[in-house]
Amino acid sequence: MAEELRDRATEDPAIHTEGLSKRYGHKEALSDLTMTVPRGEVFGFLGPNGAGKTTAVKLLLGLARPTSGEGLVLGEPLGDVAARRRIGYLPELFRYQDWLSAEEVLAAHGALLHLPRAEQRAQTAAALETVGLADRARDRVGTFSKGMQQRLGLAVALLGAPEIVILDEPTSALDPVGRHDVRMIIRTLQARGATVFLNSHLLSEVEQVCTRVAVLDHGCVIAQGSLQDLLAATGARIEAAGVTSDLLADLCHFGDLRLRGEELEVEGIRRADVPELVAALCAAGARVYSVEIRRATLEERFLDLLGGH
Ligand SMILES: Nc1ncnc2c1ncn2[C@@H]1O[C@H](COP(=O)(O)OP(=O)(O)OP(=O)(O)O)[C@@H](O)[C@H]1O
Ligand SMILES: [Mg+2]
Repeated sequence: MAEELRDRATEDPAIHTEGLSKRYGHKEALSDLTMTVPRGEVFGFLGPNGAGKTTAVKLLLGLARPTSGEGLVLGEPLGDVAARRRIGYLPELFRYQDWLSAEEVLAAHGALLHLPRAEQRAQTAAALETVGLADRARDRVGTFSKGMQQRLGLAVALLGAPEIVILDEPTSALDPVGRHDVRMIIRTLQARGATVFLNSHLLSEVEQVCTRVAVLDHGCVIAQGSLQDLLAATGARIEAAGVTSDLLADLCHFGDLRLRGEELEVEGIRRADVPELVAALCAAGARVYSVEIRRATLEERFLDLLGGH
């Protein structure tokens, strides 16, 4: 089965799933998830509360079994233990034992990864440094603030130089500095070739780091693709003189046109059609001074998608 899936999953992606579904009793938590995450991408998995994001992550990691469907992570079937060691994971709601120090938490996870002692110590120090907890290494988890605990969770996810790092809401407890730090960490991971799978509903965060996204609602993917495609131009603002109402009527097939003085607003025009509109304006004798493409923010697009769904 895994062989057939490998054949269909072209170019050895980091993650590939087909028809992955999970049902809890009567509740379809995830429905027919088919997606491919190429290696080296920062992939944003978006959706409102209860959409099925964490459920999908649990299936990818083998922490829950799919009701139907299948998938590959790093070329191995879901839940493969050897592949799991090559994945870093920051769970959504986690709580390490209060009495352990940050160092001890990392040592325990380093042991699970079978890291040699010296390597484990070096990686623990590096991970604590990366997440800004180097000076709290010996302090107990019980004395950490919420944000510090999240930073510690992130440090755990970085151990063992993972090829995929799955972060389930990594910045929910973090202050603006912490969020900035996480963006930097994600960019560093990407620079060294790792794949990052980011569950989030903090859209401005996602917009700043992700290259591809999937949007989930009620367990179903309602949009998937590159961030650029998803945020394709939705309008244009053109500064032009000599635009008459007759001309506006002639150009209405380009979108919803509104003229205020010398400013022409065009709603719902595709980027590819803007040069044609400008050419049509010029051909009709208008004088064009500037053209500005308006892109939707991820938040606008997200609300739009959810509304339409
Ligand atoms: N163990 C479980 N038993 C029963 N239902 C569950 C279980 N885990 C998740 N669900 C249900 O599955 C749906 C999806 O939950 P999930 O945790 O995957 O959402 P999410 O997208 O991660 O949401 P959030 O943004 O709030 O973290 C929800 O309706 C939830 O109640
Ligand atoms: Mg969740």
